[in-house]
Amino acid sequence: MSEPKWIKAIPVAELHRHKFRQMRIMSRIIAITNLTNVPMALDGECRHMRGPLLEGKIDGTTVTCPWHGWQYDLSTGQCLTEQWAHLRKYDCKIENGWVMVDISPLFVSQSE
Ligand code: FES
Repeated sequence: MSEPKWIKAIPVAELHRHKFRQMRIMSRIIAITNLTNVPMALDGECRHMRGPLLEGKIDGTTVTCPWHGWQYDLSTGQCLTEQWAHLRKYDCKIENGWVMVDISPLFVSQSE
């Protein structure tokens, strides 16, 4: 397991319930949201054809991709439409008014 690499993502004040914010790092889009007053961050592109999950509709813990309707469980990252598909999750914490995201999973082997 690699050491965490925390980066400032967005101010806590800009994190709204059931709305996505995004950050781009190392050519990846990371979607940040708040379902239960706890920030969470996942890959922001659908595993089907890289649809923008940030524009998807959130219902409970499920987000629906706006392009072809694949659904994901935001609490786990698991795709509910195709079992093989999974969104990477990133640990989050709040520090000094900022949502911090651990981007260390981006530095793990590409074979996952
Ligand atoms: S790109 Fe998301 S369902 Fe097709």
